[in-house]
Amino acid sequence: MSTAKKQVKRITTHILQAMKEKGEKISMLTAYDFSMARIIDDAGIDVVLVGDSASNVVHGHETTLPITIEQIIDHASAVVRGVKRALIVVDLPFGYYQGDSKNALKSAIRIMKESGAHAIKMEGGEFILDSVRRIVSAGIPVMGHLGLMPQSIYKFGTYTVRAKDQSEAQKLIADAKALEKAGAFGIVLEKIPQELATEVSKSLEVPTIGIGAGPGCDGQVLVLHDMLGINKDFSPRFLRRYANLYDIIKNSVAQYITDVKALDFPNEKEAY
Ligand code: KIV
Repeated sequence: MSTAKKQVKRITTHILQAMKEKGEKISMLTAYDFSMARIIDDAGIDVVLVGDSASNVVHGHETTLPITIEQIIDHASAVVRGVKRALIVVDLPFGYYQGDSKNALKSAIRIMKESGAHAIKMEGGEFILDSVRRIVSAGIPVMGHLGLMPQSIYKFGTYTVRAKDQSEAQKLIADAKALEKAGAFGIVLEKIPQELATEVSKSLEVPTIGIGAGPGCDGQVLVLHDMLGINKDFSPRFLRRYANLYDIIKNSVAQYITDVKALDFPNEKEAY
């Protein structure tokens, strides 16, 4: 009998590209800690995103703006320790790349070096192209993010569907093409009309990953806490809930409290 450990084949950006070419959909979820990352990797997820949505679902902020690079690196390092197969992409947080491509490269290098992740993601179109080129030329894979860009929430004022009118849609198509040309290996399309997302996905060589962008994208991403029903307050139309962990956890904790108070826990078998 062989004692060799079964080798796990890592997902790379090239594998994602090949998946698009074969028409195989890409699955992506967020994770922010070791335990959850290990579970979703074990389930076979293709891409784990250490999203700046950690600012909302882990740190309890109203927006993604307050999260710091140190916090993101901390989350990403924990995720890296839990993942054997998936490609790990980390969000460049707000304030660490906008308007300065040298600063963007410095932030990207810090995340890669200190966390051990495999790629970074950035929100924006033409305004970030210099940064994308600079980061890609340093050997760091970059994923773009267009449509609803939560880091710009104060510019737009709402989280409603983006690019519904013709001029915004044309701008998004141009931005997507420019990001691809600048070297992005994939683009997240958030909350845009499905016809537009399908058109963008067909017109690009690199894969698109949709969230609230319909089935025509090359892959799908959701925030883990939303799809597991940990976060009850958020229920947009695009979200499919696969579990109701809020109630499961709450009921389990309530039962534990009851057992402790009733001297039912620990019992004979649970003590030394
Ligand atoms: O931060 C995040 O979770 C994201 C996804 C919504 C794509 O950017």
